[in-house]
Amino acid sequence: MNDVKTLRIGILGFGTVGQGTWKHLIENEKAWELILGVKLLPCRASVKSLQKKRDLEIDPSALTTDSYSIVDDPEIDIICELIGGVEEARKITLRAFQNGKPVITANKALICEHGDELFKEAERSGVRYAFEASVAGGIPIIKVLRESLVANEFPLIYGIMNGTSNYILTRMDKEDASFDQVLGDARELGYVEADESLDLDGLDAAHKAVILAYLAHGIWIDIRDAKVEGIRRISNVDLQAAKDLGCKIKLIGVIRRNKDNLVSVGVYPALVPSNETIAQTDGVFNGISLTGTVVGTVVLTGRGAGQDPTAGSVISDIVDVVKDMLGESPPPKLLHVTPDECELAPCKQISGCFYLRLSVDDRPGQLAKVAENLSEHGVSLATVSQVPDDDSQSASIILTTHKTNEHSIDMAIQSLEELEGVLELPVLFRMFNPDEFEPQ
Ligand code: HSE
Repeated sequence: MNDVKTLRIGILGFGTVGQGTWKHLIENEKAWELILGVKLLPCRASVKSLQKKRDLEIDPSALTTDSYSIVDDPEIDIICELIGGVEEARKITLRAFQNGKPVITANKALICEHGDELFKEAERSGVRYAFEASVAGGIPIIKVLRESLVANEFPLIYGIMNGTSNYILTRMDKEDASFDQVLGDARELGYVEADESLDLDGLDAAHKAVILAYLAHGIWIDIRDAKVEGIRRISNVDLQAAKDLGCKIKLIGVIRRNKDNLVSVGVYPALVPSNETIAQTDGVFNGISLTGTVVGTVVLTGRGAGQDPTAGSVISDIVDVVKDMLGESPPPKLLHVTPDECELAPCKQISGCFYLRLSVDDRPGQLAKVAENLSEHGVSLATVSQVPDDDSQSASIILTTHKTNEHSIDMAIQSLEELEGVLELPVLFRMFNPDEFEPQ
């Protein structure tokens, strides 16, 4: 007689990650029983269309278009919310908590917007809300930050948090291919989110950075208070100029905390020294560097998206949730690892060096006018180079600055936009050298 208990799992959203989770739960069913002493059984999944052909063949009676019927099903013990989107996912998650069911999610946008409410509701309902798969796919960043590195505070966390934009930049850089050409390929390969802006304008990475900021510093930063820029303005000229400066351009998320416990979150293209692991993290890979006060710097790289890696993170959460349900050494309830109150850092307190490319009329005195303009805003130049454009009427001026702050550079750029002889909106990227980082 087999009296091993079975815990039943309902999967909301049966796309790439949902199917991967189902597949690996079934393929490794013996392992879960050995590890947990219970059987884990995926038994229902919700879909948008029952007719759609799927790679994974499962009994059609396990599928429904009604996610609530799974959440309300008394036979289902654990919910995996993999439907994405914000409002509907929020409602379903809250309903699962009311029904006393733990929820595992990969939904970074939802946590970013409603994390505070959802974690409180989970706590009130006495269930777990687990989210390893929400940041950096298969990289176990949440566990490392909350558990393995619990002895640390984190003055700096930075890295590549969006695989699609990294794929595009890597191919532009290595093959001198154009943005549009590589974007077309990324679409064909299915890398780009349905809402392309999430990948191309830095929003997906920003959702992840906001979650990491909360975990590290206990502060929910409103995404509108973060500097969020994407990759659309990066050209092959910039990638080459970065190389000449010993750097690579990467879209990075940066979470900083200074000595006064002021925290900033930003996502932007930055010139990172080529010898840094993050600069060498190419293709669809993600890489996150954590600088802790006790451990020093730890860098994690790996697949930040895709069926198997993300399903692996979902299953890691399922295992933790089950341990909690069984009362066996669950992960800590505390979400973030800092006892100090943190606040949002004002722009004037966020300093750094910048890369600036300007398309200007190629005429006497133009460079001097640009330099004077920057100097009026307290921005000092570190390097200057000029490349004539093909038409020989205009030129690209490429400048790097000494350390200044976000407020001064904003003011300088606004005024450069209006300067006579500046032909296009200036292109501005940050220069990010982690070796020069000091908590300010
Ligand atoms: N669009 C995301 C990426 C998927 O490219 O990294 C995982 O969030």
